Amino acid sequence: MERTDSGHAVGSVAETAFDPFRYAHEHRSEVAWLSQNTNHLVPPEVVRPALIAAIRDRLYEGYPLGSGQIGLKELVLADLGLPAETPTIISAGATEALYMSLRALLHPGDVVLASDPSYLIIHKFIQLSGASTRDLDIYAPPYRLTADRLQEAVTPQTRMILLIDPLNPLGSGYSKEEVRAIAEVAHDHRLYLLHDVTYRDFAGHHTLAQGFYPDGTLTAWSVSKNCGLAGMRLGGMVGPGDLIKEALRYNTNDLGVNVLAQVAAAAGLSTKPRWFPAVLATTRANQERIRSLVTQLPEVVLPVFPSQANMFVIDVAATGVTPVALQRELLLHYGVFVRAGNYLSPMHGGRFIRVSFSNPPSDIDRFLEAFPVALETLRKEARGAPSSLPTPAGRT
Ligand SMILES: Cc1ncc(COP(=O)(O)O)c(C=O)c1O
Repeated sequence: MERTDSGHAVGSVAETAFDPFRYAHEHRSEVAWLSQNTNHLVPPEVVRPALIAAIRDRLYEGYPLGSGQIGLKELVLADLGLPAETPTIISAGATEALYMSLRALLHPGDVVLASDPSYLIIHKFIQLSGASTRDLDIYAPPYRLTADRLQEAVTPQTRMILLIDPLNPLGSGYSKEEVRAIAEVAHDHRLYLLHDVTYRDFAGHHTLAQGFYPDGTLTAWSVSKNCGLAGMRLGGMVGPGDLIKEALRYNTNDLGVNVLAQVAAAAGLSTKPRWFPAVLATTRANQERIRSLVTQLPEVVLPVFPSQANMFVIDVAATGVTPVALQRELLLHYGVFVRAGNYLSPMHGGRFIRVSFSNPPSDIDRFLEAFPVALETLRKEARGAPSSLPTPAGRT
């Protein structure tokens, strides 16, 4: 069965025997969760007191303000460095606002310029509008979209550019000049520019495209990764008033987004400058530790380093080991959950796994111990020879 990034079944293909998401959730407390770019480094004190107070005050008994709890929009906009009056949707994760916006703005026959690899859930929403994506192959240097390639790919059917920056799954980031040049392509051809900035806090530097093309840019934001609140489901979309109004036509959440999620988001955003630097430092140190191991292994390649996000991909194509087998081996025998590339790249998904690293260093220790042994075991199995490495504890 094909599954989305969240583990939802999306196909009607016969169920396969092993469901990694079900297995990982069943063994939640034992699993090092390196598979969904979630952030496990935010100190619990950041949101816990606010949530306890909200529960004590039984905020959950009433509906929240439909447009977002008082003060939340202002915090979101201040965090993005945008004026307080900028139109904003607050939704159940960026996911919901992405769906609303794409359904509202795209029509059958429209084409969206996007990439492969990419965060394919957005592509799915594009297709639900009757539109399609033209996925530019970026699995080669510089591992990101360029204004020149986008310019060449524009046709009369092109309606939008999807710019995920930093990019899930590769971790590629865009310089200010690159963002400006891409915004100019969108502007010159009167295209919408959808700028997904979910991972922006992990980048060394980040520029919003909105500043270069204010009347055509939609900015998807999220507190799932920066504030470590993926389970709360809160994010949204910022953009010009007419586009936000259009998107809101598809809002099914008229009664507002989960009030506890809003409380947690406000607590996270209002304190982020105090604790995010430590999250970032650990994320970067983890990334460096993984790099130093992986680059020593024969036939293993790290296409993008340093990642500007909290994940990157590890290419194992030359080893002969399939990413799906590696994902399964790491999860079943070592409790380390990574993501096989086929969820992120129709063209190259058979080459890589994606690993995220906003995790306690102990999770990274487990990955570093498991990865070479799991890879070697599978490599030997693929060649029909027994592994020369000792059988690790836990592998039967
Ligand atoms: C690029 C990108 N956009 C959006 C999302 C979803 O964000 P949210 O959790 O706010 O729905 C993800 C989740 O992984 C993502 O990678």
